Amino acid sequence: MLRQGALLALLALLPGSIAQVSEGFENGLDTAAWPTYAPDCSQGGSVALDSTQAHSGKNSVKVNGAGGYCGHIFFGTTKVPSGDIYVRTWLKASKALTDSHVTFITMPDAAQGAKKHLRIGGQSKILMYNRETDDATLPDLSPNGIAASKALPANAWQCFEYHLGPDGTVETWLNNVTIAGLTVKPGTANANAAQWQRSTVKPKPTAIYFGWESYGGDTNTFWYDDISVSSTRVGC
Ligand SMILES: *[C@@H]1O[C@H](CO)[C@@H](O)[C@H](O)[C@H]1NC(C)=O
Repeated sequence: MLRQGALLALLALLPGSIAQVSEGFENGLDTAAWPTYAPDCSQGGSVALDSTQAHSGKNSVKVNGAGGYCGHIFFGTTKVPSGDIYVRTWLKASKALTDSHVTFITMPDAAQGAKKHLRIGGQSKILMYNRETDDATLPDLSPNGIAASKALPANAWQCFEYHLGPDGTVETWLNNVTIAGLTVKPGTANANAAQWQRSTVKPKPTAIYFGWESYGGDTNTFWYDDISVSSTRVGC
């Protein structure tokens, strides 16, 4: 019995069985588990539980994002698996992405250094990643790069998923369909990832925050629901 107990205790410590997060906010927004995040300044943005919008159940989290960098606000989790990281969120944006650069998921990235982030957002009307240290985008914002990504449909719930691998792999899916332009694998050519691959930084996020940050005047309202952070892909 003792031995079996010890084995079970050991299994519970194995990577893959820790840092799993799955939350639909049906019991509210626990601000200890889901702290707000607005580095440097916070003017105009807000995060709140919303019982009028939901992907499933009755609740979601509503982010009112204001314009300008200081209008940013996020909420999220520091429970990030070591190794492979798979994030799935259902999200709904009230407005389509414009030509301006914005972020709706930001991750403090230990690989880039203090106060630097790996960001997921939009520019040139399509979904893209941005690496704060060198401002590289994935995909390149060339006509071919833009065509290899997708727009984010507004005013309807979308299933957004991504994978960050310890080897620098990035994979992204919208409604279970791979976004080719938002995919990078070591050793695999991606003609639209020239900017991204000029650096050897392999993202190592210490937290995952959902919200809104705008570097121009764009404002938006996002709802997030049914968030999963896991070491394996959970799907939509
Ligand atoms: C998602 O896509 C994969 C392969 O592309 C497929 O096997 C799977 O059934 C899809 N899942 C859903 C929920 O559609």
